[in-house]
Amino acid sequence: MARSALLNVMVQAAMKAGRSLARDFGEVQNLQVSLKGPSDYVSQADHKAEEIILGELARARPTYSVLAEEGGEKKGTDGMHRWIVDPLDGTTNFLHGIPVFAVSIALERQGEIVAGVIYNPAMDELFTAERGNGAFLNDRRMRVAGRRALSDCVIGTGVPHLGRGAHGKYLVELRNVMGEVAGVRRMGAAALDLAYVAAGRLDGFWEDELSPWDLAAGIVMIREAGGFVSDRDGGSKMFEKRNVIAGNERIHKDLSAVLKRPA
Ligand code: IPD
Ligand code: CA
Ligand code: CA
Repeated sequence: MARSALLNVMVQAAMKAGRSLARDFGEVQNLQVSLKGPSDYVSQADHKAEEIILGELARARPTYSVLAEEGGEKKGTDGMHRWIVDPLDGTTNFLHGIPVFAVSIALERQGEIVAGVIYNPAMDELFTAERGNGAFLNDRRMRVAGRRALSDCVIGTGVPHLGRGAHGKYLVELRNVMGEVAGVRRMGAAALDLAYVAAGRLDGFWEDELSPWDLAAGIVMIREAGGFVSDRDGGSKMFEKRNVIAGNERIHKDLSAVLKRPA
């Protein structure tokens, strides 16, 4: 598997930030018992990871624009390229000592996502993809799962919670999906959910109210793994509409139809 120089930069940045998060995660587990919990500590870990990533990326490509969850948008002099960064996806898991979280970095060129890296330091799993060059888990090529019947599928999703999401609408969708599938999973890290679809671990995924940094790396990964990923209306406006449906061609279509069913 030959990685381009740019993908190598992204991998180095993700792994360096991942090592920092892994160290902080150990400390978070010690802080669980305190009344206030480790939330300030986690916010520091999150910001530190972003600083590491942006430092590494800027060192290699100082002119690129950046969209990062914590620091927001920074325009570079290069009008073509933009890094899209989530330094810690799965913050709630991290805060609660659940080892399901990831660093996500994508590269956009003229509005198209051309490379993505998602790294879960707790499992030491590195998911990478480059447009036209395939998708990999560590050094193994990834393909989306081949299942053709929803009744055999495990589907990932994001569940709305206090202060977030349309609860009533979601309950209708969940009821419709759960009656058709072998299992539903809420992993708690959207970038990792998309990587799992690319790896064939989840057969499909849907979620609303996501941000570009949750979605970007996973989009190129699923496409390079032979899968389908779209907004909830079947188009490519995932960033604008802030929602996503993914799977192989057949499961993407059937899941989309189930999600459209009325109450
Ligand atoms: C969150 C996670 C979660 C998803 C949320 C995201 P964060 O990202 O991806 O799985 O359900 O909508 O905001 O806040 O942990 O980076
Ligand atoms: Ca996120
Ligand atoms: Ca985050």
